Amino acid sequence: MTKFPKNFLWGASTSAYQIEGAINEGGKVPSIMDRFDEQPSYPEGITGFKEASDHYNKWKEDVALMAEMGFKSYRFSISWPRIIKNLKGDINFEGIKFYNDLIDELLKYNIEPVVTMFHFDTPNFIQEVGGVCTDKFTELFEIYSKVLFENFGSKVKYWLTINELNMFVMAADVIGVVPKDQQLNPWQLMHHLNVAQAKAIKLFRKMCPNGKIGPAPNIGAVYSNSKKPEDYTSKLNIDMVRNWVYLDIVCRGEYSSLFLNAIKKNGLSITITEAEKKLLKESKPDFIAFNYYSTMTSQMPTQKEVHQEKKDQQRGFSIPNFGEAVKNSELPKTEFGWEIDPIGFRNTLREVYDRYQLPVMITENGIGGKEKLEESDKVHDSYRIEYYQQHIKQMGLAIDDGVEMIGYMPWSAIDLVSTHEGISKRYGFVYVNRDEFDLKDMRRIRKDSFFWYKNLIESNGENI
Ligand code: BG6
Repeated sequence: MTKFPKNFLWGASTSAYQIEGAINEGGKVPSIMDRFDEQPSYPEGITGFKEASDHYNKWKEDVALMAEMGFKSYRFSISWPRIIKNLKGDINFEGIKFYNDLIDELLKYNIEPVVTMFHFDTPNFIQEVGGVCTDKFTELFEIYSKVLFENFGSKVKYWLTINELNMFVMAADVIGVVPKDQQLNPWQLMHHLNVAQAKAIKLFRKMCPNGKIGPAPNIGAVYSNSKKPEDYTSKLNIDMVRNWVYLDIVCRGEYSSLFLNAIKKNGLSITITEAEKKLLKESKPDFIAFNYYSTMTSQMPTQKEVHQEKKDQQRGFSIPNFGEAVKNSELPKTEFGWEIDPIGFRNTLREVYDRYQLPVMITENGIGGKEKLEESDKVHDSYRIEYYQQHIKQMGLAIDDGVEMIGYMPWSAIDLVSTHEGISKRYGFVYVNRDEFDLKDMRRIRKDSFFWYKNLIESNGENI
């Protein structure tokens, strides 16, 4: 049985736009997520983010529940549009107070705040000047970073730059991070985000010399679908564009020549200035945080056309002579069709650590499912307990293998609204009593997994 490190950060995760609601309260300005559900591409019959889990008004109760579970850490994001009001960078002090109060409350219970600086919710005033696809974005992100470090830098030790930077490339339209009609070169967009991230890291070194900062992409090992050598080539290709390019740039400070050649073959390139090259080289992280949901399996496509499944983050795609993501017949799936691969979790942890030799923090991992509130306020989510048991065992084996780990913050602390599948796709240890459109009383109810996780944390991972 694995012995988890003494100060291992057991906790859980959320993001501002998926949990807070109160989109017009406390001086918050609009974000692209506030009205995402009104876009024609948003699925029908699914709630948006206007009320979410009303955490903006219930945060004290939510933190008390986290403390009751024995959390050592809580990863949440700060809402940029709650902090900055306009392109001039004017500060909304009510927003600063909200997060200061939240952080103080966490510290009161000895819960380490782990802050994501940007989790998908671009302010509208930035979208109006081109959003994440422009140089302006990197400038504005630096201004915002300064405000964050100035106001929270003395209390928050662990910082995450941009949530799932790779999903801006792989699933922008599904998640709504880039409006559907905006034309873009996905790799140039990625580069803007990488530069924004590097600027934040550089500033952090000056302003918060005692803190720690890292990226938070979504990473998952890629398997070859067969013993055919060409399928292995496709595995290498997909690994490069699904995983490594996002970590190479921040940990090594440059794009690999294989990656640059690969996009060139597809008629694309990235414009990189000399100043950016220098900046990227100088802005290295202290640790790697990543979100893990599943692995990917790849083969060399036989068809000649680019094809993409529109479904979601786990979508299939096929690029001629490059790679095709296919279903893995060895793996079971969640109710929402996501492959479940706990051993893949160990494999991924090992690959990330071996490649970069930096401590690792898991900032998301979890299972979404439909749930029913039973009589006497019970929610029997044994499938979630089983999912966590399997993944935590494999994480333990990765630690035994020698992976240096800081903490585990699965998704999510309490129920919240999924990126595009509503509140009925529940992830939390705590049930929020609302339906897609009936807000009911938003009561918080401890699920079976709540008690199981509490016990696990109390025993530092032994009572699994
Ligand atoms: C990650 C995101 O992609 O996965 C979260 O960082 C998201 O914001 C989570 O909620 C689960 O995905 P989904 O689509 O089920 O909400």
